[in-house]
Amino acid sequence: MDDDSDIGQGLSLDVRNLTKRFGNFTAVDNLSLKVKKGEFMGLLGPNGAGKSTTLKSITGLISPTKGKIYINGIDSVKHRNAMTHVGCVIETPESYPNFTPTEMMQYVGRIHGLSNKEIKIRARDVLEEVRMWSWRDKNIGEFSKGMRQRVSLAVAMFPNPNLVLLDEPTSGLDPRGMIEIRRTMNSLKERGMSLLISTHILKEVSEMCTSMTMINHGKTIISGDVNKLIHNLAQNENTVAIELRMLGDLTNKFISDINAMTGVSNFEKMGEGSVKFSFNGTDDQQADIVDLVYAHKLRLLCMNETGADIESLYMKLTDEARVNIK
Ligand SMILES: Nc1ncnc2c1ncn2[C@@H]1O[C@H](COP(=O)(O)OP(=O)(O)OP(=O)(O)O)[C@@H](O)[C@H]1O
Ligand SMILES: [Mg+2]
Repeated sequence: MDDDSDIGQGLSLDVRNLTKRFGNFTAVDNLSLKVKKGEFMGLLGPNGAGKSTTLKSITGLISPTKGKIYINGIDSVKHRNAMTHVGCVIETPESYPNFTPTEMMQYVGRIHGLSNKEIKIRARDVLEEVRMWSWRDKNIGEFSKGMRQRVSLAVAMFPNPNLVLLDEPTSGLDPRGMIEIRRTMNSLKERGMSLLISTHILKEVSEMCTSMTMINHGKTIISGDVNKLIHNLAQNENTVAIELRMLGDLTNKFISDINAMTGVSNFEKMGEGSVKFSFNGTDDQQADIVDLVYAHKLRLLCMNETGADIESLYMKLTDEARVNIK
């Protein structure tokens, strides 16, 4: 029996035990995820992991084999109006090349039952937001990929949604295109919208998202707060990378002494006055390294310590998943 009694009020999206099969092949396997109001969640996973299939199931582009999807607390499989407050970009809209952005907005506005006056105001808002206002009367067919992507973001934002779903919105864009799309996403954050974004760009997740769900072979590998997950990884691994920049002559004696310190490994001389190494030890032992620098009459300009990052987390988890699946 379905138990809908605990559908959280604070959730924009609640996916429960979603399964999608294509024939005998299971693309999404009993997957659950929750996006709280105002949360930005990154959906990560290797090619073929099931990200697009999950997003298409949420938007109703394909119907789930099993499972429940609640959007703002409404069962979206039973009630199509659950999608009223959702904006999505699942594929770049190649289908309207003869439309201009203005015509696109009129089309979407009519679908949403707005008056011409309301459409005009809203169209200006969203096209300015994605920096396409000055291109409003040109054919979309003549636009670059990045510009088309921005028009589709404008379409997604048109109904002023509280949940936005984006499938690899920056894929294939040049650095400027990526930055512009990210800027738009940040403005969604300021307005308190919730976002679920699939991406291969790990930096996008660590910089923009508050939480992440990593999937592989249609199953969740890990889910939670981005910073906490990275912090836990750093603690488990217990190794940090340290870079020292110093003034003075780095003698062979200094290099052999630092190499002999407890916890130091993978020592590398980087260039004039700079060295880099992995360190796994206590704070006291780390302070001993600084003492050693001074004992050699060197002057310390900078000590940079970097912990685990999202790339290490991704490599570790996808590696573990590969081992477990064998
Ligand atoms: N319509 C379909 N018919 C049959 N198999 C499909 C269909 N759509 C997706 N699949 C399969 O489901 C699996 C998941 O595909 P999906 O597109 O969801 O992956 P993805 O995580 O989005 O990958 P990518 O990072 O490459 O975009 C793949 O093995 C794919 O071949
Ligand atoms: Mg995909």
